[in-house]
Amino acid sequence: MKINLTNKVILLTGASTGIGRELVKKLANENANLAILSRRKELLDDLINQINPSSKIISYKCDVRDFNEVQSVYNQVKSDLGEIDIAILNSGVSYRMSESNFEIDKAREIFETNFFGVVNFVHLLKEDFIKRKAGMIVGVSSLADTRGFPGSGFYCASKSALTIFLESLRVELKKHNISVITVRPGFVRTPMTDKNEFYMPLLMEPEKAAEIILDGIKKNKRVIEFPFLLSLMVKILKILPNGIFEYFASQKPKPR
Ligand SMILES: NC(=O)c1ccc[n+]([C@@H]2O[C@H](COP(=O)([O-])OP(=O)(O)OC[C@H]3O[C@@H](n4cnc5c(N)ncnc54)[C@H](OP(=O)(O)O)[C@@H]3O)[C@@H](O)[C@H]2O)c1
Repeated sequence: MKINLTNKVILLTGASTGIGRELVKKLANENANLAILSRRKELLDDLINQINPSSKIISYKCDVRDFNEVQSVYNQVKSDLGEIDIAILNSGVSYRMSESNFEIDKAREIFETNFFGVVNFVHLLKEDFIKRKAGMIVGVSSLADTRGFPGSGFYCASKSALTIFLESLRVELKKHNISVITVRPGFVRTPMTDKNEFYMPLLMEPEKAAEIILDGIKKNKRVIEFPFLLSLMVKILKILPNGIFEYFASQKPKPR
């Protein structure tokens, strides 16, 4: 049976561009009440004006790396919209770096956003959800969690950490009737991938990605991974012996 999202209170991070932005449009069509978060609040407000929603959508400026800010926005959301039913933790950053342009600040930013940016919310959500014996946490990871792809080591490591954390959380929270969903997209056309100079196989439009994620949430799937062919390919990559993986991974990527 599919979950009905009408009047549900949904908190969504990383809503200003890309996949998050498309998710806002789709969730608004479901008449869910939305708290949409990102650092660039002006982009969130433009989006709300474009949608002209019939349900409540409120924007909040929030840097997911800053726990104090996360806590105060979280409390504000509850006082504006009531208890949160679903949290979609989607904020993320990616910088391509390798041995020649390694930047420690960017490496930390990747982990602070992609991993601890989720943990900051989970810390608050789990208390409320356990008390209410209900709730859903959706973490947006990536198919890049599979192995260490050259040029994306920090990003892959952050998403791998996130996927593993969500897996353990799913087991821990199940007895409290709380669902934990891991989203593992392949390549999606967004500002994050627009800067990539290499060929991205099976590149998907963000509208389609949002549609698949929404459908998976309604079906309460454990893991939402797409596109099918790429998720199959990374399953094979995962079990390749290290030497064979290194051979393929060290080939020069095809230009875009
Ligand atoms: N595009 C892909 O191919 C792909 C594939 C797999 C997984 N993903 C994942 O999907 C998620 C969405 O990415 P996207 O492709 O839609 O990229 P995007 O268009 O660059 O969106 C990233 C979002 O994260 C927000 N964000 C970044 N740093 C933040 C911070 N410190 N605090 C709060 N919000 C922050 C950005 O908003 P502000 O800058 O306004 O704060 C923006 O809304 C990410 O987790 C990404 O890793 C993407």
